[in-house]
Amino acid sequence: MRILFLCHAFNSLSQRLYSELGARGHLLSIEFDIADAVSEEAVALFRPELIIAPYLRRAIPAAIWQQHTCLIVHPGIVGDRGPSALDWAIQEGEPTWGVTVLQATGEMDGGPIWASETFPMRQAKKSSLYRHEVSEAATRAVLKAVERFAVGGFVPTPLVAGDPSLRGRQRPLLKQAERAIDWQRDDTAHVLARINAADGFPGVADELFGEPCHLYDVCPEDTLRGGVPGQVIAWRETAILRATVDGAVWIGHVRRLDSTPSLKLPAAQVFAAPLATIPEAPLGDAFAPAGQTWQDIRYAEAGGVGFLHFDFYNGAMSTRQCRRLQAAYDRARQRPVSVIVLMGGRDFWSNGIHLQQIEAADSPADESWANINAIDDLAEAIISSDSQLTIAALQGNCGAGGCFLARAADFVWARAGVLLNPHYRNMGNLYGSEYWTYLLPKRVGAAAAQAIMRNRLPMNVAAGVAAGFLDACLAADADAFRIDVARRAAELAAAPDLAVRLQVKRAGRLADEAAKPLASYRHAELVELQRNFYGFDPSYHVARHHFVYKTPASWTPRHLAIHRDLGWTVPQ
Ligand code: COA
Repeated sequence: MRILFLCHAFNSLSQRLYSELGARGHLLSIEFDIADAVSEEAVALFRPELIIAPYLRRAIPAAIWQQHTCLIVHPGIVGDRGPSALDWAIQEGEPTWGVTVLQATGEMDGGPIWASETFPMRQAKKSSLYRHEVSEAATRAVLKAVERFAVGGFVPTPLVAGDPSLRGRQRPLLKQAERAIDWQRDDTAHVLARINAADGFPGVADELFGEPCHLYDVCPEDTLRGGVPGQVIAWRETAILRATVDGAVWIGHVRRLDSTPSLKLPAAQVFAAPLATIPEAPLGDAFAPAGQTWQDIRYAEAGGVGFLHFDFYNGAMSTRQCRRLQAAYDRARQRPVSVIVLMGGRDFWSNGIHLQQIEAADSPADESWANINAIDDLAEAIISSDSQLTIAALQGNCGAGGCFLARAADFVWARAGVLLNPHYRNMGNLYGSEYWTYLLPKRVGAAAAQAIMRNRLPMNVAAGVAAGFLDACLAADADAFRIDVARRAAELAAAPDLAVRLQVKRAGRLADEAAKPLASYRHAELVELQRNFYGFDPSYHVARHHFVYKTPASWTPRHLAIHRDLGWTVPQ
């Protein structure tokens, strides 16, 4: 079928549905919701059989839904309506939640239902639930709805307003007044629910050190206590610890409200000055098991395998985070393990260099340079480790340089449902580094490497395995994935041919080095990047600025809006 996506942005869910439907042979085109006239023109040009809105913030124009079947993906259970579906569900502690695919009509979220799915809730950020549970449920529901539409004859179930048998109901926008934390009364569980319900957007409006700010990235603390509720009692790396009435919570990120526009940044960086008088609570050792606390780098061992977890907010890796991770990796290499698994974080494995920190730096060009060199050093350390087998285990999505950092490992195993964006050009024609010019063609061939970089499209795990970029597609369920990874890694570590495998790995690296040293790949990439960072063309700086400040799109990129290049004309 010809299916048109109308969406606010090509976000993770839109990308997931795009790759799933594309893999089933549908011809897909995308138009961003910029103006009614633009959407109407896209419909006239593409003449879609079906329109899907995976992520839309306002109603589809009547001129479109009256003529075409338009399926809206709503992140709520049947009967739920309104713009803050998931936010309410988290804040009010719903035990289960769901996704409904309904047909657009004159009533917002009130149309008849084509499919719905439910899932158990988990204590997590809204963005994490969106990327895992919502994304999985929406994929199942949309595929079911598309199949029903294709077969024909399906009559969607009308939604009866006020049906008392439904748990879902109409709810308004969740406002800051209802999100507010009363530090003198709310216990830790309440604080966690409120910040999680607002993470990544819009955050909870609050104050720190007398300054208004939005709070994000909350994590419970098991042992550290003390202080007046609401008071900052300690800090560690990028996070700060705030007392609650019954314990304490870590706040990882904040956005100051005293300046517009402002960036979401690590809390300890934003409030570095007042933190000078507050005690640091260093973790001591990433290799020592900790209870519930804020710990962005964590190491564990089992069955001759070392597991290095690095859970960086939004998968962004700053210069310091890359350096700290490399130190932990080097230490893991000294351990008596024959396999090292790079676990990344639950939501993201890595999205490459830290664009917010770069934007906030005195010299974004210098910070870009420092950051890319730090991530390159880490990639080099992984590529050249010769006494262990290495595995990148992708629990969460991976973008740009993060994809190639993963590819630096001997094996890349991904959770089914993960999305990759193994290209850089969306960021103002950024050339990219992380040894991609060595790693990508070696895996997929020169022509496919060029196509991946040029096409700038998301890749699902099945496509990644088919292209040779990934080595295995494992369970979609996050817990099952981790169990599977541990089992397979232990098998590799215990396999009788381990020594032979390591020998083959060393020989392969030596041969590659003789053919063209790693240093030359890096040098050539950095020459290009130097132009991106310091050259005459400011595209990268402009694109990064728009990305971190979330400037609304004013047009749909050509490679997504294929209806504009098909050469079809609008019927008069
Ligand atoms: N640095 C800093 N923040 C980043 C980031 C990066 N490299 N990549 C993503 N983020 C942040 C976004 O700003 C957003 O922040 P929010 O919590 O305030 O909303 C959040 O991560 C999620 O990103 P979003 O773009 O909404 O997610 P998505 O799933 O729709 O798209 C990507 C994923 C990877 C395609 C997209 O985030 C992207 O293009 N990132 C930039 C990758 C890049 O160019 N890295 C630099 C070169 S190595």
